Amino acid sequence: MTVLVTGAAGFVGLATVEALLARGDTVVAFDRAALPEDARGAFARLPGTLIEVAGDVRSAEDLARAFAAAEIRRILHLAVITAGPAREKSDPETIVGVNVLGALAVFRAALAQGVTRLVSPSSVSVYGAPPPGCTAFGEDETWPRPAALYGITKLATEQMLARLAAVHGLSFAAARIGSVYGPWERETGVRDTLSAHRSAFLAAQRGEVALLNRPTRGDHVYVRDVAAGLIALLDAPSLDRAVFNLGSGVATDVAEFCRVLAHHVPGFRWRAAGPQETATVVTHVPFDRVAMDIRRIREATGFQPRFAGLDQAIADWLAAAPSQ
Ligand SMILES: NC(=O)c1ccc[n+]([C@@H]2O[C@H](COP(=O)([O-])OP(=O)(O)OC[C@H]3O[C@@H](n4cnc5c(N)ncnc54)[C@H](O)[C@@H]3O)[C@@H](O)[C@H]2O)c1
Repeated sequence: MTVLVTGAAGFVGLATVEALLARGDTVVAFDRAALPEDARGAFARLPGTLIEVAGDVRSAEDLARAFAAAEIRRILHLAVITAGPAREKSDPETIVGVNVLGALAVFRAALAQGVTRLVSPSSVSVYGAPPPGCTAFGEDETWPRPAALYGITKLATEQMLARLAAVHGLSFAAARIGSVYGPWERETGVRDTLSAHRSAFLAAQRGEVALLNRPTRGDHVYVRDVAAGLIALLDAPSLDRAVFNLGSGVATDVAEFCRVLAHHVPGFRWRAAGPQETATVVTHVPFDRVAMDIRRIREATGFQPRFAGLDQAIADWLAAAPSQ
């Protein structure tokens, strides 16, 4: 299979490109930033073919160069700006421009080029805070109430693409992804909300004490499961729904993650930051979330998380480190 992956140099992008190359696919990796050198080195050892194209998803000309590089029938559109409060305040035009209009430009190019399947991540952030009594986010059961501009643009994009795909007869799936952690997460300059798991993992590797702000509960999902779920949506022969939750299916918190990490990294110490201390492991969501109900994607594609337990995920991540 040949897949165009936008946002390929980002966290989820690198993990998904790696999984596609590992099974021998051809990947056109499109991003405004270059792939990191360590990823390039690791990907060169995989059986698939990697074609890098530099460009901006808002540019029809840049996207045309990507389509000129290979015959593309499937697209995974990941390029996005994950804005925190400061960026929302200072630059809402770029956030909306990349997240919504960038997705529209990719959709237009997909139509013009005869693409048969477009998969675009949405996010658990479209749900906002769980309503009283909610024990799991359900695609149809939970009314979306995004709290911030990032989630608002994700919901707008998901609905826009679902509508246009239906009008034009293009097969489309939006994956509402939980909070992701694992290998290849790094600063991209466009994600203001790096995971607390990454800071804890780095602290453990450096022998530093991790100081937590709030342990925030939610559906934390290992990036290699996210990659597998996205690929399952790309592969499915047909899809009769547009929106799928993609998570671990269980709720965990950052303190639990640290506890399990300490079993794997002897000597790793962590605790809540005191009132006068600066937390070094910071969660950005000021409320607890619930698990995501993942029955729909399982029934549609057979997807089942391989790393739903923190233990397996941490063991796998440590085996992938230090390069990632
Ligand atoms: N990381 C998470 O916890 C999480 C959770 C839910 C959903 N998602 C979704 O997963 C997708 C990937 O997110 P991520 O965490 O990998 O983010 P990331 O910041 O690590 O990667 C985003 C990539 O997009 C690229 N990009 C940004 N603007 C661009 C533009 N105009 N043109 C071309 N490339 C551009 C960046 O250079 C970067 O490499 C997004 O759609 C995001 O909404 C992520």
